[in-house]
Amino acid sequence: MATRLLPVVSVLLSLLICRVAAVTTVVINGTASHTIPPTLFLQNRAFQQVTPNTTTALTAWHPINGASLTVISDPLPVSSALPNSLQLTVPAGSSGPVGFGNEGYFGIKVDSTWTYNASFYYRFPTASTFSGPVTIGLQTSSGQPLASTTTALPYSSTWKQIFVQLTPTVSGSTTANNFTVTLNGASGVTINFAMFSLFPPTYKGRANGMRVDIATTLAGMAPSFFRLPGGNNLEGQTTATRWQWNATVGPLLDRPGRYGDWGYINTDGLGLMEYMYWCEDVGMQPIMAVWAGYSLGGTSLNETSLAPYIQQAIDQIEFVIGDPTTTAGGALRASLGRYEPFNLTYVEIGNEDFFAATSYVYRWRDFAGNLTAAFPQLRFIATTYAWNPMLTPTPLQYDVHVYQTPSWFAQNAFYYDSFERNGTTYFEGEYAAISTNASNLYGAIGTGRLMYPTMESSTGEAAFMTGLERNSDIVFAASYAPLLNHIVDSQWTPNLVSFDAGTVYASTSYYAQQLFSVNRGDVYLPSTLPTVDGTLFWSVTRRTATQELLIKVSNTIATSAPMTFELPYATVAGFGTAQVLQGSQNTSNSPATPYAAVPVATPIVTGKTFNYTAPGYSVSVLTVNAY
Ligand SMILES: *[C@@H]1O[C@H](CO)[C@@H](O)[C@H](O)[C@H]1NC(C)=O
Ligand SMILES: *[C@@H]1O[C@H](CO)[C@@H](O)[C@H](O)[C@H]1NC(C)=O
Ligand SMILES: *[C@@H]1O[C@H](CO)[C@@H](O)[C@H](O)[C@H]1NC(C)=O
Ligand SMILES: *[C@@H]1O[C@H](CO)[C@@H](O)[C@H](O)[C@H]1NC(C)=O
Ligand SMILES: *[C@@H]1O[C@H](CO)[C@@H](O)[C@H](O)[C@H]1NC(C)=O
Ligand SMILES: *[C@@H]1O[C@H](CO)[C@@H](O)[C@H](O)[C@H]1NC(C)=O
Ligand SMILES: *[C@@H]1O[C@H](CO)[C@@H](O)[C@H](O)[C@H]1NC(C)=O
Ligand SMILES: *[C@@H]1O[C@H](CO)[C@@H](O)[C@H](O)[C@H]1NC(C)=O
Ligand SMILES: *[C@@H]1O[C@H](CO)[C@@H](O)[C@H](O)[C@H]1NC(C)=O
Ligand SMILES: *[C@@H]1O[C@H](CO)[C@@H](O)[C@H](O)[C@H]1NC(C)=O
Ligand SMILES: *[C@@H]1O[C@H](CO)[C@@H](O)[C@H](O)[C@H]1NC(C)=O
Ligand SMILES: *[C@@H]1O[C@H](CO)[C@@H](O)[C@H](O)[C@H]1NC(C)=O
Repeated sequence: MATRLLPVVSVLLSLLICRVAAVTTVVINGTASHTIPPTLFLQNRAFQQVTPNTTTALTAWHPINGASLTVISDPLPVSSALPNSLQLTVPAGSSGPVGFGNEGYFGIKVDSTWTYNASFYYRFPTASTFSGPVTIGLQTSSGQPLASTTTALPYSSTWKQIFVQLTPTVSGSTTANNFTVTLNGASGVTINFAMFSLFPPTYKGRANGMRVDIATTLAGMAPSFFRLPGGNNLEGQTTATRWQWNATVGPLLDRPGRYGDWGYINTDGLGLMEYMYWCEDVGMQPIMAVWAGYSLGGTSLNETSLAPYIQQAIDQIEFVIGDPTTTAGGALRASLGRYEPFNLTYVEIGNEDFFAATSYVYRWRDFAGNLTAAFPQLRFIATTYAWNPMLTPTPLQYDVHVYQTPSWFAQNAFYYDSFERNGTTYFEGEYAAISTNASNLYGAIGTGRLMYPTMESSTGEAAFMTGLERNSDIVFAASYAPLLNHIVDSQWTPNLVSFDAGTVYASTSYYAQQLFSVNRGDVYLPSTLPTVDGTLFWSVTRRTATQELLIKVSNTIATSAPMTFELPYATVAGFGTAQVLQGSQNTSNSPATPYAAVPVATPIVTGKTFNYTAPGYSVSVLTVNAY
């Protein structure tokens, strides 16, 4: 590769005009989401929102040994929220184990060091003398048993629950495994089943909690906030299919599930309470959205129809922070085991309402007006383009979204520098470099969109992030989007973190986010500014308590860039550390090459003046003690 040396860039740091950023000082705080719930192992576990007696209703379920399976609309459903059951009929005269299996979300990881909690409800629709046994197990797709437990299945015409724990004797060599339920000696018997559950150990042991490997990866970014319940996921394609907080709390039997915005059914097993516990378990603030009268299919409610939806938003916030003794929402939360209010500062009103900016004028007015009156202590975030249209009450927070090319991000590192400092602040709530072709940003997956972030896209984003850090007096939070992707069923690429049934793949952009998040200072130090149309970007912060300078550098091209830093301190350590993420233009952490680029830390020589060469396509964090 031809190497053209760039001019040495001198970065002069000034102590005199050190600016102390606002309360939430440094912006690269965390993550956004719309996800396939990563929390559970069985797909279509409760036959939610399916049409009975169809093939689709049986998605992920398979008969074993000639069993007859149908999803029925049960005349005596397990709950009013779950009207459908799986009806198993064992053919007369059959012998051996007969039953069914579930293939999970494109596989099930079977790990012999784990204990799995498995449960289901059952009832006999007709009189029967059969009372078991039932065998509940995990097996390979070719039928080799990996775990199994046998128990009685006492006759009952009404719903009963079976709960067992499964400890595999051996781990699956692949994730092509099934969860199985089989009966012996049940010739001619018919049984209805409902609300299955299979859980491996969860993050911090939370019931209905998060998959440990995915949660640990996300927590590894040290995110400061979590935006919930996502963007499009909030909206619904129609008013009727919007996300409704109250359909996602309480016993799983009371959660009807919902046809989501990305073409699959959401179980809502990951509900509002689970989101809040997840935030606490990772030490993140929630940025919680309320539905604001616009759905993805393009319908806005008119002015006279808003009241019940404003009330539902008030109820949602009360559930999260209300006093159990004076509010119904707080009392409900307490009844579900959480007396103390959760922490909540930011509430977002809608999502991407620039798609319906005209109606947002009255929707924002009435939602923000009522919510501000009810919760004066909260900060409300608007979702149109800043100042277009003019909104009343004047928003003090805007959520800004941008999906663009790597070079757009580099060229917009100064995006916020010219913004007026007048009290209005910004949440860069969704951003990602998604294609190198500006004409093809929203092409179908696989047609010009990146499948996984590349070093070119990640360095472009990192260049932009140096600008967010520089403008962190008005940019109070920022998050790459989307957060999670099951690689077998992608609706959108690229994503920050991908996974399949057994493995997590942290992208190059994940590591760029992690480098920025973990290496946050508490004050921003002005320095020589990068060139506006250049390819090399940096920002400098300081951790006051440890007297560390944290210098972030993004080199967005293949040519390495020598730099000289001049520090205005009396004492500068002779050695510092460089944490460097680097690769070539198209380097991606994909399932084929999961660790193609990961940050590597090495010592560097430092001093009052020191040199550093930023490798081609790299994100570096230089840490040096100076005082
Ligand atoms: C960002 O992180 C800081 C430090 O952890 C935290 O104090 C602040 O609340 C976070 N900001 C947001 C918006 O979550
Ligand atoms: C289920 O569908 C089959 C054919 O697809 C039909 O013969 C049967 O009557 C249906 N059963 C119910 C209960 O609707
Ligand atoms: C097991 O899962 C595979 C898909 O991974 C599926 O083809 C097969 O039918 C399943 N078997 C059972 C018994 O569920
Ligand atoms: C599994 O079941 C045990 C026993 O009831 C319970 O203590 C544990 O919390 C459960 N685990 C999860 C992840 O729900
Ligand atoms: C949630 O509350 C709304 C009213 O705010 C109500 O229409 C809806 O039926 C409730 N959903 C569930 C599942 O309780
Ligand atoms: C709530 O926020 C306060 C300050 O913002 C923090 O000190 C406290 O730890 C948080 N509580 C929980 C349970 O996260
Ligand atoms: C507003 O919407 C409601 C519900 O769709 C409808 O009944 C009503 O006529 C509409 N009002 C106006 C002024 O369009
Ligand atoms: C609250 O919402 C109602 C119904 O949309 C509206 O008429 C009223 O003006 C709003 N109140 C405030 C304080 O914004
Ligand atoms: C800040 O200035 C912009 C115009 O530059 C204005 O639209 C916005 O409302 C102002 N914010 C506040 C809080 O006054
Ligand atoms: C960019 O995308 C457009 C639209 O799909 C296509 O026509 C064009 O050929 C692409 N350019 C390159 C360089 O691939
Ligand atoms: C990266 O991929 C693009 C598009 O496929 C290609 O044009 C370019 O040459 C690749 N870069 C390298 C260094 O291989
Ligand atoms: C930095 O590099 C320049 C050449 O570009 C060299 O003259 C200078 O001595 C170097 N400084 C240090 C401290 O190594």
